[in-house]
Amino acid sequence: MPISIKQTLARGECLQEVSESWKLDAELFLSHELGTTREYLYSRPNELVGEEHLESYEKYLERRMAGEPVAYIIGHKNFWNFKLRVDKRALIPRPETELLVEKALELGRHFDGRGANIADLGTGTGAIAIALALSNPGWQITAVDISQGALQLARTNALKQRTNNIEFRLASWCDGLALNKYDMVVANPPYVKPGDNCLEKSVLLFEPAIALIADNTGLGSLQQIILQSKKVLKKDSWLLLEHGFDQQARLKALLLREGYDSVSGYKDYSGIDRLICAHWSATQQYIE
Ligand SMILES: C[S@@+](CC[C@H](N)C(=O)[O-])C[C@H]1O[C@@H](n2cnc3c(N)ncnc32)[C@H](O)[C@@H]1O
Repeated sequence: MPISIKQTLARGECLQEVSESWKLDAELFLSHELGTTREYLYSRPNELVGEEHLESYEKYLERRMAGEPVAYIIGHKNFWNFKLRVDKRALIPRPETELLVEKALELGRHFDGRGANIADLGTGTGAIAIALALSNPGWQITAVDISQGALQLARTNALKQRTNNIEFRLASWCDGLALNKYDMVVANPPYVKPGDNCLEKSVLLFEPAIALIADNTGLGSLQQIILQSKKVLKKDSWLLLEHGFDQQARLKALLLREGYDSVSGYKDYSGIDRLICAHWSATQQYIE
């Protein structure tokens, strides 16, 4: 028997066991299923929900009860000012990564409007690359990932956003990138240490390990990127790295030791150390 929108949302109460944001989760499931906004649900509480919709909604609740993230269930996530398709091939973009986009755009103002070459290492869904490409159509972005699946998803997202200034590359970090070419390298690489029990169970169960875990207590990928980027960055350029809450001091020391200067750390909106930016003045030029 059909029930009302209000009654359908009330069935989402079962999610209280697994989710602090259970009300929002239920609203997102129902608005996604009905193809409406969340506001619509509250403006028509007595409207009836058809049985097919109800069936799908119940399946979403079951998947959420098993710990699956909402974004994988509904298949999309908002990032910056657009909507990304997401699935298990790539990490779900986090709101704190928008800080990296903000800083990249801020530093990019110094490019004086000229076309710039930017590399996004470990692009995942393409979140950072697409945000930068849409904000600066004159920039040429190279989006790299070692995961074929993630790269396919990033391509789909870029196509949906109609960007035409992103080139996609299946590679490990800077392998195969042109030397001394890039005005900026940005990366949100895996930075969680193996066996870390801070991560929510649902993250570990559903999101790809290659997007999360790095060796050397979580610093392995960041260290590789710091070393490799020196070769591909041009004179007077920038490296921007998202990192874990306890890694900033060690990264700062490594960046300075490797010859970067003007190294600055930033906190995210929750007050947690999250981003480090470093300038590369290129006293050394690399040749093949
Ligand atoms: C934390 S996710 C970030 C995804 C996306 N940039 C974001 O911010 O939402 C890290 C990404 O790095 C990729 N990755 C892991 N190891 C890599 C490697 N050696 N070279 C290139 N990409 C790698 C993973 O496949 C994953 O997509």
